[in-house]
Amino acid sequence: MQIREAVANDAEAVIQLLERLYAETSFLLLEPGEQVWNKDEYARRIAQARADRSGMMYVAEADGALTGVVFGIRGRARRNRHGLYLVIGVLRAHWNRGIGLSLLRAAEEWAKTNGLHRLELTVQVRNARAAALYRKAGFEVEGRKRHSVFIDNAPMDEWLLSRLIDRSRGGEDRVAQPEHSGSAHLGSEQR
Ligand SMILES: CC(C)(COP(=O)(O)OP(=O)(O)OC[C@H]1O[C@@H](n2cnc3c(N)ncnc32)[C@H](O)[C@@H]1OP(=O)(O)O)[C@@H](O)C(=O)NCCC(=O)NCCS
Repeated sequence: MQIREAVANDAEAVIQLLERLYAETSFLLLEPGEQVWNKDEYARRIAQARADRSGMMYVAEADGALTGVVFGIRGRARRNRHGLYLVIGVLRAHWNRGIGLSLLRAAEEWAKTNGLHRLELTVQVRNARAAALYRKAGFEVEGRKRHSVFIDNAPMDEWLLSRLIDRSRGGEDRVAQPEHSGSAHLGSEQR
């Protein structure tokens, strides 16, 4: 298994991987068939992000096939360009082999290399697996987004998580844990 930065030529494989992920799980934002970019648009955006560091995408590959992906969208303004919003997915057949953690570490390395300071992501409160992974990777709860997504027509809350990757650059040393949303409860709810 190899973790590597995606290149424009991966566009078609990435679209297919994401489509499989959207069909396999309702833990991601999009539903199957909801992707809007075609291969050329995807290739253009991957190339652009590689050139201007406005975002990142790393893929996990085994035997020439993509098995997982992490991508990050960076803030566009001067005041939030230090932040990266992450999305991660691994095909179900490859779960529990450390791919998710390796992808997260790759995203963190990319962020460090490019001088970013803050990693951010959201996770549905029922997603215990992803919550465990993020906790292991050092993410902390910032708050609870109420009814931030609808899953099969039912409202669902998400945790907002972050990790500061160079704490010497300011900000709170630890993220305050809002009442009733401590990390002990992270991902422990089923809805
Ligand atoms: C979340 C996801 C990326 C994890 O990928 P992965 O390759 O299985 O991750 P890893 O193997 O690195 O680590 C998984 C960890 O979850 C833990 N875990 C597995 N099942 C669990 C469960 N039911 N409850 C709590 N933790 C669980 C494992 O123990 C493992 O930790 P360990 O290495 O300490 O044992 C993957 O499951 C996935 O793509 N899920 C669907 C999409 C998704 O939820 N994306 C995140 C949206 S925010």
